[in-house]
Amino acid sequence: FDLERHNTFKMKVKAQNGLFINTAEDLAKLDTDKYLILGSGSDVLFVDDYSGTVLINAIKSLEIKHEGNFYKVRAGGGILLDSLISELVAKGAYGLENLSAVPGTVGAAPVQNVGAYGAEIGDYIESVEFFDLSTKKAGKLLKKDCLFAYRHSIFKEDLAKSWFITYVNFSLPDTFTPNFTYKGIAEEGLLSAKAVRDKIIALRSAKLPDPKLVGNAGSFFKNPIVDKDTVEVIKSQYQDVPVYPFADGLYKLAAGWLIDRAGCRGITQGNAGTWEHQALVLVNRGGARPCEIISLGKYICAKVKEKFAVDLYPEVRFIGKDGEVFWQDL
Ligand code: EPU
Repeated sequence: FDLERHNTFKMKVKAQNGLFINTAEDLAKLDTDKYLILGSGSDVLFVDDYSGTVLINAIKSLEIKHEGNFYKVRAGGGILLDSLISELVAKGAYGLENLSAVPGTVGAAPVQNVGAYGAEIGDYIESVEFFDLSTKKAGKLLKKDCLFAYRHSIFKEDLAKSWFITYVNFSLPDTFTPNFTYKGIAEEGLLSAKAVRDKIIALRSAKLPDPKLVGNAGSFFKNPIVDKDTVEVIKSQYQDVPVYPFADGLYKLAAGWLIDRAGCRGITQGNAGTWEHQALVLVNRGGARPCEIISLGKYICAKVKEKFAVDLYPEVRFIGKDGEVFWQDL
């Protein structure tokens, strides 16, 4: 099963088998114990051919009900997130517009709690439905049990390895309250969700490579969370360092800024590179092999560590012959 069209990094890799899952019932009939659950492959780097069955989420049913001042939305995990957002904005169901043009599927979105332009998907989720492939039972988790955090949720933990996300339930207000926490959209005087959506689509296309044209998986690293002392040391040299207060007296730095100032924006090594307009995005400049992307990633980590004494950790997940592999083992 050719995976090249199923990973936005465009790695030329294969799986032993591939199956499209169209309904939750398909899952009950499955007979395989070596599988990998995939949406549109926009947050993974395949580092090798995969020796099991890839299960592609293609559950596309959508129910939208208006209840009181909210829209209750039950969206199939295989729907593209941006198609859903486009439909919701047109209908007058608000909240997700700041996540416009985020690649990937609805089912993948809660896994890493996708976030952009001041919004995180977890804030709008009421519950997540899944089918546990190891027990063959359906389950449902309320938002509070999903453990949503910055680029994290329970769905990334070992316990959830066999959970196939079938539906995501959202609760979205029917009145528009702009979320202008991200500076860069606040000053635009945007008056409707459609205007916010259009602005964000324009911002993203100016900064980020279109995966249809240039293989990439968005931010390759997470923005690092550091203590006050680390911030002070960097600030003493660079007054303009972007710093965002995080929880527990910690701070979030912009990995893209650190990579840029470490001299790694727009560089090329072999067929891998970093994007000219956003250094946090590693790109396949054409025909790159997984090892080229990994060695560029390792080089960037070393440069950032050397210059700022800050460790970067990947946001992208790595899939090897037998399933997920971890950065430190690559
Ligand atoms: N910056 C540079 N040089 C660069 C890149 C960034 O100086 O090469 C500076 C920017 O000027 C800005 C700061 O770093 O001051 C932050 O950059 P940006 O606003 O582009 O956002 P980010 O923190 O790099 C995060 C998300 C993105 C999301 C944007 C917008 C993470 C890991 N990434 O990037 O998410 O689109 O904010 O909200 O949190 C993704 O997850 O794949 C993704 C693209």
